[in-house]
Amino acid sequence: MIRRAAMFAPEIGGRGAGSGTPVADGTNGLRPSAGPAAGERALAGEAPGGKVSGDPASATGGAVAADGSAMAAPDGRRLVIAVDGPAAAGKGTLARALAGCLGLPYLDTGLLYRVVGRRMLDAGLDPSADASGEAATLRAEDLARGDLRTPEVDRAASRVAGQPAVRAALLQFQRSFGAAHGAVLDGRDIGTVIFPDAAVKLFISASHRARAERRWLQLNAHRSPADGEREAEIAAVEAELVARDAADSGREVAPLRAADDAVRIDTDRLDADAVLAEALRIVRARVG
Ligand code: CDP
Repeated sequence: MIRRAAMFAPEIGGRGAGSGTPVADGTNGLRPSAGPAAGERALAGEAPGGKVSGDPASATGGAVAADGSAMAAPDGRRLVIAVDGPAAAGKGTLARALAGCLGLPYLDTGLLYRVVGRRMLDAGLDPSADASGEAATLRAEDLARGDLRTPEVDRAASRVAGQPAVRAALLQFQRSFGAAHGAVLDGRDIGTVIFPDAAVKLFISASHRARAERRWLQLNAHRSPADGEREAEIAAVEAELVARDAADSGREVAPLRAADDAVRIDTDRLDADAVLAEALRIVRARVG
């Protein structure tokens, strides 16, 4: 099940897998494999413990791991794990940790839409206007930008993500990324559109309140506002999440929805370790 492979991620808008073009990395959402031992341990059912080398920001040397491993799906193809779900449900935390445990590359596909939205805002353009030019010229190193996780970019990303031409421009990069060596990808349409034949599909959800609290904490870990102020801020975050869910679920192209064969994990009452353990159990059941 464990195979060795030199890992090269394709360029966005480039020639795709097999082009041999290593992507300059050190980015937030794009990370090379953690190596074979981690994958073997995880599939043997060992607790992941602290060896989740899941912080993509610590990745160095590009999306290249000459000694990296790539686990295979039961039919011998590259193992692709799709992690979909609404905003702040815990997809990213899980997907990053899974990738670290299984020795697979990881791609946070939301960053692609965030970059496109950010670039529209930078250009003084309405994100609802045609953003396909920004999508077609996007480069992997853009994913490392530090200004992609603001509420303004949340909204802009959702707007550009509703445009068929933007999604078309970003599709091949995502497919090539996963096809090259297998991968864990998180997003909204990984199991339905990008990799409809992924060996493992997870759909991560949580209540509006739990998601709003988590997102508020991510953005405000450094502050301790009075209870009333905190409550009002969480309520505002919740309203934003609900609005974005509605836009993401209601759009015509690649709407947010669970694939028919996805396994759902509700993270309301589970901490990150418990979600990871459950996901590893599902992967073992599917992949063996
Ligand atoms: O981190 P969070 O869950 O808030 O959002 P994200 O995953 O970074 O995605 C930002 C936005 O990009 C979403 O609201 C979607 O509109 C869009 N997106 C998408 O349409 N398809 C994906 N595969 C990933 C993100």
